[in-house]
Amino acid sequence: MLTPERKIRIAVFVSGGGTNLQALMDAQKSGIIKSGEIVHVVSDTADAYALERAQNNGIDTTVVDRKKYPDRESFEKKLIETLKSNNIELIILAGFMRILGSEIIREYENRMINVHPSLIPSFCGKGFYGLKVHEAALAYGVKVTGATVHYVNEIPDGGKIILQKAVAIKKDDTPESLQVRVMKRAEWLILPKATEMVCKELLKGEK
Ligand code: GAR
Repeated sequence: MLTPERKIRIAVFVSGGGTNLQALMDAQKSGIIKSGEIVHVVSDTADAYALERAQNNGIDTTVVDRKKYPDRESFEKKLIETLKSNNIELIILAGFMRILGSEIIREYENRMINVHPSLIPSFCGKGFYGLKVHEAALAYGVKVTGATVHYVNEIPDGGKIILQKAVAIKKDDTPESLQVRVMKRAEWLILPKATEMVCKELLKGEK
């Protein structure tokens, strides 16, 4: 009998629409991600559309609603419990709109990655998330922006860069049009690619 191929168990953290989650699930289906498997999706809000996307793909979900916890410690304790009980080996922050504390970051050192919608170190760090990143890029007047996938450490958006992709800004761009182009031309491509790279690396480390 053939033994099933060993794959890294992945949890994806989301807060909203979940288009990056969708890109990851599609990449798993098409074989771009083959060294890992998305086994769980965690949302910090109950109404994230990303939860529906996960359920449509038969992936288990957990809502850890920040509002229901008195402080960050108890919220993150629940996150860690969810990760442990599902034997998670890699966390992907895909549109997760919350800065995590040091306990969970240390626990998953080199096992947590994030996608950010700019070319780090531009337009990143505390306060730069979602549409705000694109508003800032347009307000500054840069001609090129893009996306970055990086490891998560205790400095917001400050961990080691894994992949980046540049996207040109057009004269008539709005934050919304730019956000969509950065997603399509950069995020949805580099996040699955970086995921496979990291999973492969983790498997290699076991040999
Ligand atoms: C994406 O553009 C992602 O890079 C960004 O929020 C959007 C989420 O979209 N994340 C951050 O700004 C985190 N700092 P999605 O829910 O459709 O994937």
